[in-house]
Amino acid sequence: MTASSSASTSRLLIRDLAQIATPRVTSDGGTVRGQGLGTVEVIEGGFVLSENGRIRAVGRMRELSQVPGVVEEIDGRGLVAIPGLVDCHTHACFAGDRVEEFALRAAGASYEELQAAGGGILSTVRATREAGEHGLRDSLLRHREWMLRSGTTTFEAKSGYGLDRETELAQLRVIRDAGGIPTWLGAHALPPEFADAGADAYLDFLLTDVLPDAALLAEAADVFLERGAFTETQARRYLEACGAAGLTLRLHGDQFTESGAIPLAIELAARSVDHLESTGPDGIAALAASDVAAVLLPASALFLNRPMPPARALADAGAIVALATDFNPGSAFCESLPLVCGLACTQLGLSPAEALVACTVNAAHVLGRTDRKGRLAAGFDSDLVLLDADDWRYLAYHLGGPVVRTVVVGGEIAWDSRA
Ligand code: NIG
Ligand code: FE
Repeated sequence: MTASSSASTSRLLIRDLAQIATPRVTSDGGTVRGQGLGTVEVIEGGFVLSENGRIRAVGRMRELSQVPGVVEEIDGRGLVAIPGLVDCHTHACFAGDRVEEFALRAAGASYEELQAAGGGILSTVRATREAGEHGLRDSLLRHREWMLRSGTTTFEAKSGYGLDRETELAQLRVIRDAGGIPTWLGAHALPPEFADAGADAYLDFLLTDVLPDAALLAEAADVFLERGAFTETQARRYLEACGAAGLTLRLHGDQFTESGAIPLAIELAARSVDHLESTGPDGIAALAASDVAAVLLPASALFLNRPMPPARALADAGAIVALATDFNPGSAFCESLPLVCGLACTQLGLSPAEALVACTVNAAHVLGRTDRKGRLAAGFDSDLVLLDADDWRYLAYHLGGPVVRTVVVGGEIAWDSRA
């Protein structure tokens, strides 16, 4: 190594960590399912060495040899390192809020009633259209900061609050420019301009006028397949066109009713079906026998006072289980994956290990990034969270508490609770 290249090398050494906890992956596809879902590798008294944004080595302190060149050090005593958390399902690109609706629900109104009355998603559509691209950018950056402080170092975000060409594409651009992974959710709700013409006419518009450009910005497409949203036939049409345009396919399915999302996802080889609060035994068995991931969103079920998804049954049957926040202003105003892990252990019957795996390596799978994200291993991106605890299970245990002390992204400190 020449002197000049050595000088430009940036190294970060986190030493004397109480623990390092990371999923162990044995399958070729980089996912963890079945028995392995509950297995986390724990190193007591360890170090993580990063170089130029990637992890160079992870090990026990006694295996640490002399590190050449200039090294920034973090004293890890009393702390735990886990992989940066991966939020594979958010609607973080929105303007305005729905705090009025929240209060109405607290007084007894239901999410579906508010939606049918023209509130719900459509009220966020109005605010998002009004915000314009600059306003939307500011909102997303604010939300991204909240996510980062909760330990999220990789996030997906969906469009679906524009429902017109200009705003849908603006959402996707804003998400991409903020470092998020954009998903096109054009088929989220029927916008007011198409109230008379109907959902099929809206899909004609989406697939003709928006898809060609959305496919250049987004990595995936998503559809809300549900009573009062889009039917199985409409979802199939939308997803087939999006798949043909090269997008990965995802579905909001079985949130309120079983409306055929799981069979459709399997038939179309979708990456995931998300929500699943209403999924019964047949859906659980079908999903577990497939390669379609089950993305569970317990903060959304809690926020809407809905039944929790059948996580234990899905995990036991061998499904690829991932956890996400569903962060949005209406059904889950919650950006915290540590809180979601707490809910997973208290409400879903998952173990702390299953929760950690579900919001790291399996979430990275949903986003097509198992080669770089979701694990602490040599060659992976140096994205990690230092927990203010000496046992990694505090991630789920310290419910709603300030468990995240420091967040490292690409080998650099992106946030520190003491700064
Ligand atoms: O995942 N259910 C559909 N979409 C979102 C909610 C969006 C909203 O209420 O603004 C969800 O829960
Ligand atoms: Fe969602």
